Amino acid sequence: MDSRIPGFYDEPRERRLELIEDRCDLSDEASDAIAAAAHGDTCDQLSENVVGTIAFPLSVATNFVIDGEDVLVPMAVEESSVVAAASHGAKLARQTGGFSTAVSDPHMIGQVQLRDVADPQAAVARIYEQRAAIRETANDQGVLVSHGGGCREVTARVVDTPRGEMVVVHLVVDVRDAMGANAVNTMVEAVAPQIEDLTGGEAVLRILSNHADRRVARARCTIQPETLAREDSEYTGAEVRNRIVDAWALAAGDPYRAATHNKGVLNGMDALATATMNDWRAIEAGAHAYAARDGYGPLSTYEVAEDGALSCSIAVPVQVGTVGGATRAHPTARAAMEILDVDAAGDLAGVFAAVGLAENLASMRALADEGIQAGHMRLHAKNVARDAGADDDLVEEVAARMVAEDDVRAGRARELVAELGEETDRGGEADRGGH
Ligand code: MEV
Repeated sequence: MDSRIPGFYDEPRERRLELIEDRCDLSDEASDAIAAAAHGDTCDQLSENVVGTIAFPLSVATNFVIDGEDVLVPMAVEESSVVAAASHGAKLARQTGGFSTAVSDPHMIGQVQLRDVADPQAAVARIYEQRAAIRETANDQGVLVSHGGGCREVTARVVDTPRGEMVVVHLVVDVRDAMGANAVNTMVEAVAPQIEDLTGGEAVLRILSNHADRRVARARCTIQPETLAREDSEYTGAEVRNRIVDAWALAAGDPYRAATHNKGVLNGMDALATATMNDWRAIEAGAHAYAARDGYGPLSTYEVAEDGALSCSIAVPVQVGTVGGATRAHPTARAAMEILDVDAAGDLAGVFAAVGLAENLASMRALADEGIQAGHMRLHAKNVARDAGADDDLVEEVAARMVAEDDVRAGRARELVAELGEETDRGGEADRGGH
């Protein structure tokens, strides 16, 4: 197979798919799957070399109260139990008023890297002397200023690199309701010649930083220990609370655990980013860079409050926009925004932080009590039941039986589908309702 396809990007989407069908000897099933999914024309505009679309399940997480308002959260994710966990975390928090959020100004950083600067420290001083002029050049670009945003600060420092000392200039830009990458990149490219003149160096990189530590969203909630008690648990609510705090402490002391802890947070945030077509790679990069600012650690914190409640909090950079980009272009992303009913990027950032915390709280609760597999198994069992041919009426029951028997296998699912299906045929709906 030859991966060179000259002019591929110029072909219409249908022709591109035909070319891939030929090269990869695709089955009809595969071709149909690629061609069938929705919003092909929109997606063709969003990316390059598009041959089709891939549909994620779009779910809605329930139970969220954020800053006193009920919110339904659209989430697109392929991993079972992520949406259930977010809804569960939100339900725990709901009993004490839900999540409170606080979001910083939407300040993103753009970098200009300068090499071959003869007098780096003095060059830094010259940048600070001329910072008003640099800001002015930056603010002459684009539309941010007319929307109340723009370059707020210019800073400079000397960075020691494997290729010697370099001067790095930061523009701190208020991007308002945009994600901000385009606006910031335009600004740093525009100021680079001026900065070269001031430093006598040569600009290399002129690009946004995804270490968005000036654009941080916080969320917190309080959980009473009684809320953590479960009838079939071997632990009291207070014990589960303490086990959660111990589990968090391991993440604070051990990056091997912190990575998984934060993966749980990002399970929720990425799913919301995907549903609203925000750049989840930026969210991931920013979250991990922020988690690593003092040595890699957890994004969230669990403490015991004076009254014995579990205090849960999170601080995480959220670089998302509500204007422009795929969020506006893609019909399903627009629909997701309609479900959320949020206009300002700051409010959206608060929802992201709350969802990250809810997701993490549910994982922590399960891990500290019955373990994660019981819930996963219930959901997995439903998929196995469905694959084995259980129709909508039988899925729950086949899954429940396999979980109770601790035997979640395709073979057992097929036996149960046959057995229970026959009972249904004999006894009808009324009998099954009695189980
Ligand atoms: C699985 O996708 C996420 C968890 O591993 C997160 C965690 O361990 O905290 C359950």
